[in-house]
Amino acid sequence: MSARSGDTPDQAATALRRGELILLPTETVYGLGADASNPAAVAAIFEAKGRPRFNPLIAHVADAAAAETIGVFDEKARTLAEAFWPGPMTLVTPVRDTGRVCDLARAGLDSVAIRVPGHAMARAVLSAFDGPVVAPSANRSGRPSPTNFADAVEETGFAVTAAVDGGSCAVGLESTVVSILDGRVALLRPGAVTRAEIETLVGPLADSGEGHRSPGRLAAHYAPEAPVRIDVHAARDGEILLGFGPGVGDPRWSLSVSGDMKEAAANLFRLFREADRTQPAGIAVSPVPTQGLGEAINDRLRRAAGFVG
Ligand code: TXA
Ligand code: MG
Repeated sequence: MSARSGDTPDQAATALRRGELILLPTETVYGLGADASNPAAVAAIFEAKGRPRFNPLIAHVADAAAAETIGVFDEKARTLAEAFWPGPMTLVTPVRDTGRVCDLARAGLDSVAIRVPGHAMARAVLSAFDGPVVAPSANRSGRPSPTNFADAVEETGFAVTAAVDGGSCAVGLESTVVSILDGRVALLRPGAVTRAEIETLVGPLADSGEGHRSPGRLAAHYAPEAPVRIDVHAARDGEILLGFGPGVGDPRWSLSVSGDMKEAAANLFRLFREADRTQPAGIAVSPVPTQGLGEAINDRLRRAAGFVG
């Protein structure tokens, strides 16, 4: 298997057709992909990740037309799809009963999560395969999502027969998950497409509590090995400080020296991994503003620190 130097989108599509797993680069994080219609292939994803239970997965497709063949889109869903696809947003809609996204991939729900990724290599794989590809983040369960090829290979490379090298992920945080069920729009997971951007197009969001479940969101997700403290101004002995903004801590460990939120999002999971490799007493993180993309960054930080999200 020559996977570690990077396989082509065509090789990845061939592996998918055979029921094998692939590493799929996207602009958010690397995914561990399988043919969405093949329950045995989907089961292999859960096995490789060591997931404690079967969470519903995101089905990735090449364009909005393909998305509408697996989900039922109302006016609001179309508006969001048009505005943010291809890109870092996932829509949860009622499922069309075609079997193209199997029950196991949806964890038995009558809804389906769909995303059209923006990364050119991801789109090449999806076009070559010509069917939905389910792909959770390529990390083993409970670990930070991989945001570059080497980290993805380290996490779940053992389980795949094709690994596509798409470089470093430009966004670095998992997609925004929005559910649109019975005309109500709710934010299930904050991400690079912000709450404000969504509300501008479809009005105020519903409370995500009722009828909009996000079954895969464990509080302890995204945790590095080292204990994490957040909103910290000064590190304790033996801790690595992940700074934010000018003059805060060692620039090598800064989320963004200039205080740029996009840069901080793209660096977060990589810095968690690199900090872990030095086996520190702990990881301390400077305060990061909560507006815009900061909602998603702080969501991941709170989970890493062990607070219920
Ligand atoms: O950026 C991303 O979204 C990455 C890349 C690879 O696309 N994928 C990813 O997948 O983060 P995963 O499996 O780690 O997260 C999927 C999220 C979970 O929070 C899950 O609960 C939610 O999507 N989800 C999936 N299907 C759902 C459904 N039918 N209803 C509600 N939430 C759903
Ligand atoms: Mg994940």
